[in-house]
Amino acid sequence: MKNDYFEHKAGNYEQDKDRVTNVENIANSILNNVHFDKGMNIMDFGSGTCLLLERIAPFVGKITAVDISESMNNELESKRANLGCKLEIVEMDLTKSKLDKKFDGIMSSMTMHHIKDIKTMFIDFYSLLNENGFIAIADLDLEDGSFHTEDTGVFHFGFDRKIFLNAAVAAGFKNVKITTASIDHKPQGEYPVFLLTGNK
Ligand SMILES: C[S@@+](CC[C@H](N)C(=O)[O-])C[C@H]1O[C@@H](n2cnc3c(N)ncnc32)[C@H](O)[C@@H]1O
Repeated sequence: MKNDYFEHKAGNYEQDKDRVTNVENIANSILNNVHFDKGMNIMDFGSGTCLLLERIAPFVGKITAVDISESMNNELESKRANLGCKLEIVEMDLTKSKLDKKFDGIMSSMTMHHIKDIKTMFIDFYSLLNENGFIAIADLDLEDGSFHTEDTGVFHFGFDRKIFLNAAVAAGFKNVKITTASIDHKPQGEYPVFLLTGNK
């Protein structure tokens, strides 16, 4: 049986203003670094309640939201009517099952630190993309472990940017670059967040 780490968080996930601001910054950074059009079908990996995808939705045709958490997916479902594009919700653990689809781009916000083997994840992203498809992946810089105050299935206390970038390059991605997307302000500290972009 799978563990829904976000079961007791989903309902009030968006009440944390710092979290919302952080994902707003990430979305703006993605919009500044990636070209979108209404013909595109994009995957949002670890889509959560929709904080990222609702900001990208007006610029694409369809978003496929992939998330393991039933409770987060239920929150997202309740917002379907107000999104600016078509939405498909796929409830799955992308590290355990294969998704038989292709996308024009894959975006992700604050999810990779929940993934044990990021090298394999980048290889999977590569195979899920159409030719020239993009990745736009945002996550924490290395931190001291204080970012999470409860267990939500964390495998990494952020990432060293060089190691993260090398994992994307090793999977075959081109034009890979990393920029600073945001600083997540929390009561216990300030946590820089990067955005990695690249193409198949
Ligand atoms: C910290 S939340 C981020 C949610 C959203 N992207 C945001 O920025 O607000 C991480 C999300 O990744 C999902 N997740 C974690 N591991 C996953 C996996 N192996 N497959 C699919 N989703 C996963 C969690 O259920 C959760 O909704």
